[in-house]
Amino acid sequence: MIRFFGPFIAPLVGAGFLLALLWGFITTPREAEAPTAAHEYHKGEKEISFSFDGPLGRYDRQQLQRGFQVYKEVCSACHSMKMVAFRDLEGIGFSGPEVKAIANQWAVEVPSINPDTGEAATRKALPSDYFPSPYANETAARAANNNALPPDLSLIAKAREGGSHYLYSLLTGYEEQPAELVRKFPDAKTPAGLYYNPHFANLNIAMPPPLVAEGQVTYSDGTKATVPQMADDVSAFLMWAAEPKLENRHRAGVAALIYLLIATAFTYGAYRNIWRDKKH
Ligand code: HEC
Repeated sequence: MIRFFGPFIAPLVGAGFLLALLWGFITTPREAEAPTAAHEYHKGEKEISFSFDGPLGRYDRQQLQRGFQVYKEVCSACHSMKMVAFRDLEGIGFSGPEVKAIANQWAVEVPSINPDTGEAATRKALPSDYFPSPYANETAARAANNNALPPDLSLIAKAREGGSHYLYSLLTGYEEQPAELVRKFPDAKTPAGLYYNPHFANLNIAMPPPLVAEGQVTYSDGTKATVPQMADDVSAFLMWAAEPKLENRHRAGVAALIYLLIATAFTYGAYRNIWRDKKH
């Protein structure tokens, strides 16, 4: 028996698996695409370009300093930026003494220990400190924000598809919830304590519109602080925070391309040289 069926067993087992696979494909129930409010009303990124877009893009230091000012005066009330240290600000053009002053005057002090009593205390920030969190812990952060947690902004520009383009769209994207949406999807009505923003994945965000009035910050370089301008600047700043070495990466890319072009030219020259006498 075995001797007779032996040669057929392996192909039979294989065919059995194949059939099971096919059966699986055929009978998998296709989810009926039920329309949802997020499906129909979610908006993509707004048209906006940044100086650091594209392979040759560079940061505009002046803009990054303005963006830092917006973070400091508006966003830092709720959002931490735990992976950026004050001294990193030298990377956007602040001098050593300026960084020292910024750290010293920061609204939130950093936790420390009283050297005499050993009790928990706070002290003024130093350039080597990371930006202190506005809340003592997650529970305090949620308690102050309707149970939502303001995310740390150090890497947010990298953590969201669209990066700074998304951030800009989100910050300038708050609007009235369309009446038509509520008529079609009564369940999707913005709940109390949330805000309608079609650029946010589920359309309702727990962050109150942070940039609302022209002149909310006063720029020292004379730039007019309109809402789109502040959103643009802080989005650029958050991109820098997430990727301070972007320019080096761009430069390395261009250098690699030039190297490859030259290497290609040499290789072609060598090829011509080797085959010079062999071809007619
Ligand atoms: C009053 C507190 C508050 C202020 C001020 C504030 N935020 Fe928020 N932010 C929140 C909360 C709360 C959330 C969480 C929202 C949620 O999950 O629904 C949030 C979420 C975010 C997100 C994440 C959105 C996402 O895709 O998940 C970004 C980005 C953001 N804020 C940027 C900023 C920027 C930039 C500023 C300053 C211009 C700012 N926020 C000011 C409270 C605040």
